[in-house]
Amino acid sequence: MSAITVKDLTKKFGDFTAVNNLSFDIEKGEVFGLLGPNGAGKSTTMAMLSTMLKPSSGQAWVNGYDILRNEDEVRKSIGIVFQDPSLDEELTAYENMDFHARLYRIPKNERQKKITELLKLVELDEKKDNLVKTYSGGMRRRLEIARGLLHEPKVLFLDEPTLGLDPQTRNHLWDYIHRLNQEKGITIILTTHYMEEADKLCHRIAIIDKGQIIALDTSEKLKNDIGGDIITIVSSEKDNLYSVVESLPGINNIEVHDSSITIGLHNAEKHVAQIVNMASESGVPIDSISIHKPTLEDVFLHFTGRTIREEEATGKEQMRMMQRSRK
Ligand SMILES: Nc1ncnc2c1ncn2[C@@H]1O[C@H](COP(=O)(O)OP(=O)(O)OP(=O)(O)O)[C@@H](O)[C@H]1O
Ligand SMILES: [Mg+2]
Repeated sequence: MSAITVKDLTKKFGDFTAVNNLSFDIEKGEVFGLLGPNGAGKSTTMAMLSTMLKPSSGQAWVNGYDILRNEDEVRKSIGIVFQDPSLDEELTAYENMDFHARLYRIPKNERQKKITELLKLVELDEKKDNLVKTYSGGMRRRLEIARGLLHEPKVLFLDEPTLGLDPQTRNHLWDYIHRLNQEKGITIILTTHYMEEADKLCHRIAIIDKGQIIALDTSEKLKNDIGGDIITIVSSEKDNLYSVVESLPGINNIEVHDSSITIGLHNAEKHVAQIVNMASESGVPIDSISIHKPTLEDVFLHFTGRTIREEEATGKEQMRMMQRSRK
């Protein structure tokens, strides 16, 4: 049985289709990523799977429970970290945890032990009695993750777990997420618009744009889809070079630019020596040669013709920060 099964899931807001016929499966123990730009429908998908929002049509099962017919069972079997902060600022970390534990009816005699254990896991036990309003963004996120784990969910939903955090804190959080999956065997579904995050953490990635999945696979396979690696060769005789290397077997794509030639092919590193030899035998000089592995950015560009713009995220992060400081 899969951890999550999604079949033709659709959400419309009036005439607008936010999530359009999504279908996918998530294996137990998998870290699955929904990668896409702002407004792609990531949070809406999470909201439907966590029973916070009713789908317009389609079906889904989480831990074997039907999201439409077994809402309570679904909720009990999942942990959620929402995109927007949901901690009580005026309470301490411990009090936030305790409140949630009572909400989930965790017996009194287990509560303290569990809370302490989880706060240790995210390295917040020493600051457990400090008010959350004194916490940094990264500490808050860690606390939210710990809180989401209190009732020992089998599946953890993380909606933009590192949005707005600095690169170092982001790296730190990736370690926790990775460990939760590896050591506790928790299935994780996360949304992100950070390519690197999806690449680092996810076993498989669904690239989502305008409510639809446009590609779904492992990061490596997605990158292979676009024709393999890219070799860039700089030469003063690029036209001659072109006719020399054109015959190289396995080339998926070859282009002449202003001062260089780019070749798209798989396992590029295995062909570099051959290219250098061919050029040298024909007396064509090579100034430099480099290999560029395609990134998920290249993949997104390949499928949509657009880039996932980081500045959109930056603007949104600033708004979130302002909202936070206003509180
Ligand atoms: N309650 C709602 N009413 C109307 N439109 C909505 C509602 N919730 C979401 N939408 C719209 O649905 C689309 C998808 O929103 P969603 O929040 O799922 O995107 P997202 O991929 O999570 O984006 P982000 O990266 O900004 O978090 C957006 O165009 C959004 O404006
Ligand atoms: Mg979102």
